[in-house]
Amino acid sequence: MLVESSSMLSDKELGALAQKIERERDFDCGQFRQSYFRRRVTSRLRASGAGDLGAYIRLLDTSGDEWTKLIATLTVNVTEFFRDRSTWEFLRREIGPQLLAKKQRRGQSFVRIWSAGCSSGQEPYSLAMLFSELAGSDPRSLAAVRITATDYDRDCLAKAKAGLYSENEMAGLSRGQLARFTSSEPDGVRMARGLRTMVRFQHLDLFSSVEQRMMDMVLCRNVLMYFTQEQQVLVLKKFALALNPGGLLILGKSEKLKPELYDEFVHVSLAERVYRKRMPEEAS
Ligand SMILES: C[S@@+](CC[C@H](N)C(=O)[O-])C[C@H]1O[C@@H](n2cnc3c(N)ncnc32)[C@H](O)[C@@H]1O
Repeated sequence: MLVESSSMLSDKELGALAQKIERERDFDCGQFRQSYFRRRVTSRLRASGAGDLGAYIRLLDTSGDEWTKLIATLTVNVTEFFRDRSTWEFLRREIGPQLLAKKQRRGQSFVRIWSAGCSSGQEPYSLAMLFSELAGSDPRSLAAVRITATDYDRDCLAKAKAGLYSENEMAGLSRGQLARFTSSEPDGVRMARGLRTMVRFQHLDLFSSVEQRMMDMVLCRNVLMYFTQEQQVLVLKKFALALNPGGLLILGKSEKLKPELYDEFVHVSLAERVYRKRMPEEAS
C-alpha cells in the first residue's frame, strides 16, 4: 500500500514539495530533472514510513532530522564542472604544475589520478581539461595523464561515459574551454573525443574489496559526507593504500581527514582540503 501511494505522487504534489523545500530551506529544486526528483522523494517517503505526501510534510514540519535526510537524498548525485572554484584554482596554480614537473624530473611516464565518486563525470572531465590546459600544446604531456573515475551508480556512469550534457550543465566552462573541449550536437554538448580518452570510467563500490594502486592524486569530494565516521575511516585508509608516497588526497570543502589517518597524511591546504601522503622517511 505504502509503495503504491508514494509511487503515485502527482506532478502537483511534487511541485508543492519543491516549493516548500525552496521556501523553507532555500534549496533550488529546479536543478533536478522531474524523474530524478520523483525517484528521490519517493525513496525518502518510503524510508520515512510516511503513508502519503501529507503525512510526509507533517513529518518535515516536526523533524529537523528528516529535512537533513531529504536534502542528502536529493544531493547524492549532484555535481558540476569545476565545482568549488578555489580548489580548482589551487590545483591549477600549485598542485598540477608541481605534479607534472615531478613526473618529468623522475622520467616517469604517467600521472595517475583517481576521481572516486565521480557521479556523472563532471569532476574527471574538469581534471582532464585542467591538465590539458597545463600541458599546453605538448601532445606528449597531454597523453601522460590517466584518470580513473569510479562510482557505484550505473545511471550516472552511463551519462559520464557518453560525455553528453545540457547547455545549462556546461555553465562552469569558459568560452575558450567550450570551443576547445566540446562540440555541439542536436541533443546537447559533448566532451571532445581527445578528452574522453583521458578518462576511464569504472563501476566501483568504495566498500568493495577492489583496490586501486599507484595513484599520484585521489579526489573524493562530497562523497564521505554520506558515510558514518567508521565508514569514512575505512574509505580513507583505502585512499592511503591507493596513493604513491607523496601522493595527494583532495576532499570536499565540508569534509576533512580523520585523526585515525594523521599518521598517513600531512596537511597541504586546510582551506582546500588537500593532504599529502607521507614519504617513508616522514613517518610521524
Ligand atoms: C554528491 S556526488 C559527488 C560528485 C563529485 N565528486 C563532486 O564533488 O561533484 C556523490 C557521489 O558519490 C557516489 N557514491 C556514494 N556512495 C558510494 C559508494 N559507496 N561507492 C561509490 N560511489 C558512491 C554517488 O553515487 C554520487 O555519484
